[in-house]
Amino acid sequence: MSDVKKLSRRQFVVAVGALGASASSGGMSWYPAESARPLNASIKVDLAAIEPGQMLVETWRGRPVYMLHRTAKILALLTEEEHLLDPLSAKSKQPDFAQNRFRAPKGKELYLIVFGVCTHLGCAPQFVLNELEGRSGFFCPCHGSMYDLSGRVYKGSKAPANLEVPPYRYLDEYIVEIG
Ligand code: FES
Repeated sequence: MSDVKKLSRRQFVVAVGALGASASSGGMSWYPAESARPLNASIKVDLAAIEPGQMLVETWRGRPVYMLHRTAKILALLTEEEHLLDPLSAKSKQPDFAQNRFRAPKGKELYLIVFGVCTHLGCAPQFVLNELEGRSGFFCPCHGSMYDLSGRVYKGSKAPANLEVPPYRYLDEYIVEIG
């Protein structure tokens, strides 16, 4: 596993919660500096390092990739279809395996992997987790678009589509290759 990127170079993000608090380990940027790897190179990530309820931000091809470790409790917070613009992701970009309400391969529903790029004008949505009340998901601070915990956009948002899912594959239970 020597080619798996070292975790110390990554950015773990804790959700903005009901009280408006937010935290990210180490107080670093949301956009970790990309290494000197070729722009089109794939990256390998060990999802086992992400705590339940925590999100890891990586960078691939110059774009932030959000990797969220969901739990059964978090999956229960997925938004009802009637509130979503494209609940089954029929009009959004993703690999075929992610065209479902979890936007993840079968058997890997606990991990969401999406580009952290709003489909309106490209701002970085914030991860929001309200386990008791209110909306949970990804909130775009630029023009207020809201996505649920599968990256599916709410009706009424300026964003026209769900967050894009990058191409990726599992190499074993926890190691994913993006690209
Ligand atoms: Fe996200 Fe406009 S860039 S709502």
